[in-house]
Amino acid sequence: MPANPQLRIVVKEALADVADAAAAHVRAAAADAIASRGRFRIALAGGSTPRALYPRLVEGVDWTRATVFFGDERAVGPTDPQSNYRMARETLLGPARVPDANVVRWRAEDPNLDAAARDYERALTAGAAAPWLDLALLGLGPDGHTASLFPGTSALAEEGVLAAAVDVPQMGQRRLTLTYPALCGARDVCFLVAGRDKASALGAVVDGNRLPAARIAHRAGPVTIFCDREAASALQPERMDGAGLRPA
Ligand code: 6PG
Repeated sequence: MPANPQLRIVVKEALADVADAAAAHVRAAAADAIASRGRFRIALAGGSTPRALYPRLVEGVDWTRATVFFGDERAVGPTDPQSNYRMARETLLGPARVPDANVVRWRAEDPNLDAAARDYERALTAGAAAPWLDLALLGLGPDGHTASLFPGTSALAEEGVLAAAVDVPQMGQRRLTLTYPALCGARDVCFLVAGRDKASALGAVVDGNRLPAARIAHRAGPVTIFCDREAASALQPERMDGAGLRPA
């Protein structure tokens, strides 16, 4: 996989510092999008790592001029503890009083997830032109997945749609996810990665191994990986920007 010349890796000592750096990046992206195009279209990451970031975005973004999407969702309702929407509502959407009309939630409780995915694609593209997202926030799993693009799943082959339902046997779940065309097509992509359990996957992603997250990290366009020292411990020092921290 050809290396992405616009891939930056920002290493910080601790997750709080990673979140501070990522929050500054998001605020700048929002200000630029609103100044340039009048609107900021962001896809939020799920999982647990963004819990450190989202409270830092309550201030400093004009959420009245933003549209909030989700990179993926578990096939659960909006109040389920597993729900990425619930996590974002608790940590960002509620505290920032983001208008409900500005939040595009996956209808993940729908028994027909294929229909829910088609509806989400319609919502993503309604009244907009490509690129559909100004910023895609993503996490990284220990197996190199991102959003719900898991190794060995059908979503990896979805090239003609922007949103898909997918069975993820390794998680024992059904999920909904934006696909490579949607995520690789964002104006800007940021990964938020922390913890030693991510070090091997992050090393493989940066090296361009054939992992789902690697395909997005090496897409043509700006990508910034914000990570802590533990997650960066398998990276070659010369690949790091920012703190210039050496692997522990
Ligand atoms: C999800 C996410 C998923 C997540 C990674 C990392 O719905 O779980 O979309 O891709 O970002 O699994 O999760 P953690 O931040 O919890 O390690």
